Amino acid sequence: MFPHRRTAAPRSNRLRSSRLSTAVLVCLALGLAALVVTIPLLSTLRMGPLRMDLLRLLALIVTFALLILFWSLTERKLWKRQQAAIQTSEQRYRSLVDNNEDIVLFVDTKGLIQSANPSVETILGYAPEALLQTPYWMLIDPAHHADSHHRYLRVMQGESQNVFLTLLHRNGSKVEVHEKKIPAIVNDVVTGFFVIVRDRTAQRAAEELLIKSERLSAAGDLAAGIAHEIRNPLTALKGFVQLMQSSRSEYDQYLTIMTDELNRIDTIVSELLVFAKPAEPHLVRHDLRRVVPEVVELLSPQSVLGGVTLQTTLPDDAADVICDPNRIKQVMVNVIKNAMEAMAEDGGQISITMQSAAGANRSTVTLTICDDGPGIPEAVLAHVGEPFYTTKAAGTGLGLMVSRKIIEAHNGVLHVTSRVGEGTQVEIVLPLA
Ligand SMILES: Nc1ncnc2c1ncn2[C@@H]1O[C@H](COP(=O)(O)OP(=O)(O)OP(=O)(O)O)[C@@H](O)[C@H]1O
Ligand SMILES: [Mg+2]
Repeated sequence: MFPHRRTAAPRSNRLRSSRLSTAVLVCLALGLAALVVTIPLLSTLRMGPLRMDLLRLLALIVTFALLILFWSLTERKLWKRQQAAIQTSEQRYRSLVDNNEDIVLFVDTKGLIQSANPSVETILGYAPEALLQTPYWMLIDPAHHADSHHRYLRVMQGESQNVFLTLLHRNGSKVEVHEKKIPAIVNDVVTGFFVIVRDRTAQRAAEELLIKSERLSAAGDLAAGIAHEIRNPLTALKGFVQLMQSSRSEYDQYLTIMTDELNRIDTIVSELLVFAKPAEPHLVRHDLRRVVPEVVELLSPQSVLGGVTLQTTLPDDAADVICDPNRIKQVMVNVIKNAMEAMAEDGGQISITMQSAAGANRSTVTLTICDDGPGIPEAVLAHVGEPFYTTKAAGTGLGLMVSRKIIEAHNGVLHVTSRVGEGTQVEIVLPLA
């Protein structure tokens, strides 16, 4: 019935078949015997009443034998057809079980696994044979044992059961699954149950991604709303400051500072609007090597203050990419700012290297920004790049998220790798023009 327990034809069927064959043989033997006995008799006897009786008897025996033979042959044909139908249906069932991506187990009334399909190896790491006669509960996370026992009792009363639970992989890790128990009822008696287990790992990953992208778009909408609301009063403030500047006064120097600061806020808010509701980037063919010194220049005052040295290594050949140079600069600023903030206490070195590589399908340029700061613990690294995820008191937790979005809009990828105590490496790969 199952892949590793190929069942032979049932005993009753085999008995029936041998009985039929015997019946056919007996009939043939009877027919032959009748012929053998009567033919010599007929040749020796003269025609008379006895001969007539014998002839009648012979006719009767032969007819009877032929009838039994015919009946046997028909029965045999019918039986063969039934056998073929049973085999086809068994093969169909076996291929349904064998090719099923879900785990299909048959568990007996004592809770012991009697059969398992190959998916059990893919999902839980066990060879199907290794699980035979093993209690099913051994595959279940102990946290679910009580509930599972309750469900076992229910299924033994003939009720199907559906539940989300955690199973244990052979390597000890936990696997989130959806489990369905279906009672196997034969002649109104529950003879065990089928367990169908669907791995939810991929589904969970898709759900997480969905939640993440929903949060991303929510963050975008929120930022756009805030930026828009800040911009309106800002325009009014700038107007009044300009008005006050036109009439000379002792506050002139303050008004200049105020104008500068208001312009700064205006720039930031405009940038925020661009990121929150990304307009089509202004794409041009640009040598990426030109971006690096500009960014280093921009950040040099901050790096001097923080005791950080910026070291750049650029290739000799041009690294032309189709990009919006301002956006790429923004990404580099975000990443280098993170590195400088991470090394704020002791200072250190940030190396910026650029390297082109020719691939089979596309050529790329990789920009690597490495720091020798404290590194990012694994638990933090898993969340880095999620909107509003920050470990800094004054951080917004948007820097890496925005950067990744910009690079992806350029058909590139941004990877963050880190080792605690060694430093962090951000790799930006962009397609070459
Ligand atoms: N080079 C790095 N070294 C150590 N930790 C880092 C580094 N880069 C990023 N991180 C960690 O990743 C988190 C998220 O970084 P991200 O740039 O997205 O936000 P932020 O720097 O906290 O805030 P924002 O950039 O918006 O001001 C940081 O809070 C920090 O914990
Ligand atoms: Mg940051």
